[in-house]
Amino acid sequence: MRRGIRLANVGGGIALLLTANAAPARNMVKRASATARPAPSNRQLSGADIDRRVEALLKQMTLEEKAGQLAQYSVGTPTGPGTGRDDYETLVRTGAAGSLLNVVGAQETNRYQRIAIEQSRLKIPLLFGFDVIHGHRTTLPIPLAMASSFDTELVERAMRLAGSEAAADGIRWAFSPMVDIARDARWGRIAEGSGEDPLLGAAMARAYVRGYQGASLAEPTSVAASVKHFAGYGGAEGGRDYNTVDMSDVSLRQVYLPPFQAAVEEGAATLMSAFNTLNGVPATANSYLMTDILRKEWGFNGFVVSDWTAVAELVNHGIALDGPAAAHRALTAGVEMDMESHLYGPEIPRLVREGKLGQAVVDEAVRRVLRVKFALGLFEHPLVDEKAAAYVATPEKRELARRMAEESIVLLKNEGGVLPLPSSGRKIALVGPLADAPVDMLGVWSAKGEPRDAVTLRAALEHRLADGKGTLRYARGTGVLGADTSGFQEAVAAAAASEVVIAALGEDTSMSGEAASRTRIDLPGNQLQLLEALAATGKPVVLIVFSGRPLALTEAQVHATAIVQAWQPGIEAGHALTNLLWGEVNFSARLPVTFPRSLGQVPLYYNHFNTGRPAGKTDLTRPPAGPAEKYVSRYLDERNTPLYPFGYGLSYTTFDFTPPTPSASTLSARAVQKQGQDVLRVKTQVRNTGKVAGTVVAQLYLRIQGASTAQPVRQLAGFQRVALAPGESRTLEFTLGFKELSFFDSRASRVVEPGTRYDLWVGDSSEATQHASFTME
Ligand code: NOJ
Repeated sequence: MRRGIRLANVGGGIALLLTANAAPARNMVKRASATARPAPSNRQLSGADIDRRVEALLKQMTLEEKAGQLAQYSVGTPTGPGTGRDDYETLVRTGAAGSLLNVVGAQETNRYQRIAIEQSRLKIPLLFGFDVIHGHRTTLPIPLAMASSFDTELVERAMRLAGSEAAADGIRWAFSPMVDIARDARWGRIAEGSGEDPLLGAAMARAYVRGYQGASLAEPTSVAASVKHFAGYGGAEGGRDYNTVDMSDVSLRQVYLPPFQAAVEEGAATLMSAFNTLNGVPATANSYLMTDILRKEWGFNGFVVSDWTAVAELVNHGIALDGPAAAHRALTAGVEMDMESHLYGPEIPRLVREGKLGQAVVDEAVRRVLRVKFALGLFEHPLVDEKAAAYVATPEKRELARRMAEESIVLLKNEGGVLPLPSSGRKIALVGPLADAPVDMLGVWSAKGEPRDAVTLRAALEHRLADGKGTLRYARGTGVLGADTSGFQEAVAAAAASEVVIAALGEDTSMSGEAASRTRIDLPGNQLQLLEALAATGKPVVLIVFSGRPLALTEAQVHATAIVQAWQPGIEAGHALTNLLWGEVNFSARLPVTFPRSLGQVPLYYNHFNTGRPAGKTDLTRPPAGPAEKYVSRYLDERNTPLYPFGYGLSYTTFDFTPPTPSASTLSARAVQKQGQDVLRVKTQVRNTGKVAGTVVAQLYLRIQGASTAQPVRQLAGFQRVALAPGESRTLEFTLGFKELSFFDSRASRVVEPGTRYDLWVGDSSEATQHASFTME
């Protein structure tokens, strides 16, 4: 048995382990956790004071009251298949509910809270949870859009606003961020996450947690984050929601877990377990995930809530014969709170009394829930101010929402510089089902967002072109879905009478998000036909795509002179878009997901493996001419490349990069292992080569070759947003350390291996060409 140096990341620290090559991955984990005990992930959840209070309370609790703290019920509009109950007040009064979801508003939450703190025996406050996903009342762009900004500071500010608005509504627990890596555009929930890249996903995960939880959970404006869905949910087979997930431990750890680990390191107070099975074991009963990795390796000291009815669904998964067995499996695997399965409340006491469940397991779960309640200051401040001023979308809130949207909207095509539009005197036709659809600007999971707050493209254009600054002809043309062409004529007439056409097409809000997977990802309904008809007028067509996923725009781009990917941009949609279209603000967003040419390529992602027979320079636009072109990894009828790659986005200016210069041409694997972070500096100079100011997202990619496991052809190793005046250049420095330079070996241990070569590229997309390399010895 060969022995080698392996590195395990134990609770944020790094332990050097001597391991036998034959050791299976799970033993590896055990060994790692036995080596060193990870520090608690959030210090606010531990400490003598909290411990003392928790233990004192625990001593007074009956078994039923303990189970009650672990039970969460939905009151109000359900966000899953309804489980029907109407005795919520009794549940709270008798201490049988520890948390409620979907109750929102100071008055409503206070009403239930008063019952808890005045009428229940132990007066333990309730924790109210809600799907605050991309804003609470002030609706910001959807998460996939916000990830396009690559601006973690702005996202943190945006989430701070979201959390504080939720807190004013009595909500101290946001079911966010969703950090599931998604590589499949069919999956509707791709809209809710930060895309396909683990490094960007991890950076965004941290930003959300910092924004929600602030400097202290106890601040009345802070909310506890719930990082979801643990884990692997984005890998659902066929992109069908709730479907089976089967992946290697290496993929799990290298691709899907980094954002979760980052969020835990950032102190996330709670996690939500996923619906799917992961390698045969439902995530909600998966002790490898929730006990071995989450607690033993990462030191997580918050609690895990199940997803909606996910505990009861263990019966459907076939790993529990009945509800009590499902409750037993979930709790013992590490799910402390049961969302809406209505099982923990009645079944936990029964299981304990029957001797099937240890009291200690229950106590530990209750401790974790109570710690979060104490840390949030709920015992001191259980109620919220009912007289606080009603919500107003103030200029400051709008300004933040607008900036977030401006940084989220991606320019994909701009033929002949049709954009920016000239400042005045233009005749514009605005066409399409999404030109004046406020609800579709808010997007999926828009919490308490109100369509009346949303500024549509039509409203913003009317305002901008008022007072003779231009002429606007609006025609809806068609619906999002359907085959009715009766509106085409009016739309084409408007186009013919104008100088430029703005076509607002794409998906409506209901077409992405949970339970919204699709088998077609091109423009829905007859919108492509409408686009063709508009283009046939000979007028330049600026296509604005509203969607919660990457659509296959291959045919659309033939007819569109310019393409703007607007996602679902939130309440400031219209203002942000017009600012960008007129060039008053420059485009700076970059794609956080790959845009495929066609559905048949999906899943398509930039950080794929090379295969043993890469297509290389083979011309994939024609059928293979001979064996050298045939026996490669390719399609007969489509290229391998995306339509628009990860990290891509245009600007009104251009940027130039010098080749990256690493601070060393050789690194020692041992030194990297020892030193941890900050091992290698990579410098590059970026210059704004155009005529206007702009912000570039400088991206550093790396590839590792010669390692014991295949590594992606490229992976993001760092990014920076850099604002540059015309002609200005700046030297950028990226710092790489163990995290960026290591990878997972076949036993799923994080390692740096001697004898490997590292290639680096720097530029402003995943197709960056400026290159350098170094070796690891
Ligand atoms: C189910 C979804 O999967 C989850 O993301 C959400 O937080 C819960 N329902 C609560 O609404």
